[in-house]
Amino acid sequence: MLMSTAPAPAAPILSVRNLSKHYPLRAWWGGKASVFRAVEDVSFEIRPGETLGLVGESGSGKSTIGRAVTMLNPPTSGTVAFEGTDLAGLGAREMRRMRARIQTVFQDPYAALNPRMSAGDYVAEVFRLHRPAMGRGERRAAVAGLFERVGLDPRFMGRYPHQFSGGQRQRICIARAIALKPSFIVADEPIAALDVSIQAQVVNLLQDLQEELGLSYLFISHDLRMVRYLCHRVAVLWRGRIVELADSDQLYEDPRHPYTRRLLSAVPLPDPVAERARLAVAGAESFGEGRPGDLVAVAPGHWVADG
Ligand SMILES: Nc1ncnc2c1ncn2[C@@H]1O[C@H](COP(=O)(O)OP(=O)(O)O)[C@@H](O)[C@H]1O
Ligand SMILES: [Mg+2]
Repeated sequence: MLMSTAPAPAAPILSVRNLSKHYPLRAWWGGKASVFRAVEDVSFEIRPGETLGLVGESGSGKSTIGRAVTMLNPPTSGTVAFEGTDLAGLGAREMRRMRARIQTVFQDPYAALNPRMSAGDYVAEVFRLHRPAMGRGERRAAVAGLFERVGLDPRFMGRYPHQFSGGQRQRICIARAIALKPSFIVADEPIAALDVSIQAQVVNLLQDLQEELGLSYLFISHDLRMVRYLCHRVAVLWRGRIVELADSDQLYEDPRHPYTRRLLSAVPLPDPVAERARLAVAGAESFGEGRPGDLVAVAPGHWVADG
């Protein structure tokens, strides 16, 4: 018998199986009603302390997956298990408790914030909702601690969203996201709207928090090159399906799917319209108009669509 000294791999914190999300397409001008398959048969796992990148062009279904795994917009079919619990089976009350463990940080912090609520009140709100027994003083101290933790001066707690910079506003959202000590955060393009000069600072903050709090991330991005150093593994999404999934290094050193190669190949064009056109052509050229097939292992932990 072979004895292994390697520790058993930890159970995944998030396990997504055969997730699909279909949106109804209404009949229009005599056409027939049908469904739009925004996400089709997507499966992946995230381990404790891991960052999984989810990368694809605009419209590929990234945000749909992010909202489906947090049940903000539940899937049409498939299962999402968080820390071993099937989220679809939870009642409203249990789901509320679960929400404290699962948080989301969005691309546009200005839209996430409430313009009529001071930054301190916005962060304190989660304590009022989830920790009703907390006293005022205790709440204030907790919010001040969170401000410091994300690199904001606690003296700014009384300021309103418009009085902060974009990077500071995203730090406020991150402070609120970590307030209840979650174990998993969906970060949906959290730096895409920020100046390039401050993107790295926010990425560093997310990495520090991961180490400190043992967080797992689903990190959504449209830029494959950006996520290399942040993500342990990366899933490439094309038209609602995962076409390649691998350890970051392996994906960058040995990309197998034509779409992954195209995402890695060129420097993106600064004009988003031209960039979309480039990627659209890339998809059509490389493998026709069809949907890619099932994933096949080409190396340990490296999966590629065979269609
Ligand atoms: N509520 C909705 N109703 C209908 N279609 C939607 C809805 N939300 C998203 N979609 C469609 O699903 C596809 C994927 O959208 P999304 O997940 O936002 O992509 P991404 O985040 O990768 O840009 C897009 O074609 C989008 O138009
Ligand atoms: Mg999106």
